[in-house]
Amino acid sequence: MHFYMPAKVYSEKNCVLNHAEELAALGTHALLVTGRSSAEKNGSLQDVIDALTKGGVKYTHFNEVEENPSTETVMKARDAGVNAGCDFVIGIGGGSPMDAAKAIALMIKNKDAQADYLFDAAKPTQAIPLALIPTTCGTGSESTPYSIITRHELKTKQALPHKVFAALSLIDGKYLATAPAHVLTDTTTDALAHFFESFVNVKATDYSRLCVVKGLEIWKRSQQLLQHLDTEKPSEEALFDMLNASMIAGMAITHTGTSLPHGLSYALTYNTGMPHGKACGFFMPGYLREADKDMASEVLRMAGFTDTDDLERHYEITCGRDTVDTVVLEMSVQDLLSNPAKLSQAPFKVDETVLRRVVGV
Ligand SMILES: [Fe+2]
Repeated sequence: MHFYMPAKVYSEKNCVLNHAEELAALGTHALLVTGRSSAEKNGSLQDVIDALTKGGVKYTHFNEVEENPSTETVMKARDAGVNAGCDFVIGIGGGSPMDAAKAIALMIKNKDAQADYLFDAAKPTQAIPLALIPTTCGTGSESTPYSIITRHELKTKQALPHKVFAALSLIDGKYLATAPAHVLTDTTTDALAHFFESFVNVKATDYSRLCVVKGLEIWKRSQQLLQHLDTEKPSEEALFDMLNASMIAGMAITHTGTSLPHGLSYALTYNTGMPHGKACGFFMPGYLREADKDMASEVLRMAGFTDTDDLERHYEITCGRDTVDTVVLEMSVQDLLSNPAKLSQAPFKVDETVLRRVVGV
């Protein structure tokens, strides 16, 4: 059993400005990696610029990260960073900018390498320093070493074999305040999937389950506060709860990895555009129905659900269950069957028949 999560994490109001010195100390010229506009809207980009300016650190802004970022985007950002002389990366946003930032930090360090370096497990992992600032509450990328990148040539998303932790992760609930309701429900569903898939996992240990137990307590509290999302804005306390639950879920999957719902979700997202959390949630009840009954009951109870039907109802109310073409679900099954590492994460025998039951085809 081991526990290793070397990212230094601060979670507090005005976090970026409070820790401006530590952020600026990571290098002399930062590549800021964001999506098109949300980092501007929620104030995180300006806080980072103020922190860097205060510390006399230059920056270059790359704001072209799309949802489910591709290898091509990573390479474009690498070129921008190398040309500007960037020596560290700050990823600001949801899972897409943060995962892209990890891949970009790898490619800037390996500035002469081709894109296939990203997916080559035989190559050593080398990256320039990285800071992450989450502005959604699902991925936990700020506390995981994982980066999921879209490979159009394979028509799916894939986890890099290189494991890259942030040196510094800065969490502030105020960046969630402008997120649309559907982003909050989608990303909190992703965090829930991380808890479930980490708990029901062949690699689960007392250390990883410690994260699930406390993290789900915080997640459940945030959901109780979220129930009024349609009529009122979430409180500052609820926003911090959502972000902290997401970060702790990241700590859990850092030690176990995810399992079938995530493995099935990649092709579903690629083929339908369904958001990541919603796609993982789509397969969650089916996964828990296949698991050991006591184990599934225990983790459902911790999250506040009576059983898998109750979880299914929650998913339908929060995310809405889409009708998905069986051809697309077939692609998810076949995609996962070609990923033995992900299949082996489930603590029960998984074959095509089991996968079909999970998926419902
Ligand atoms: Fe996820």
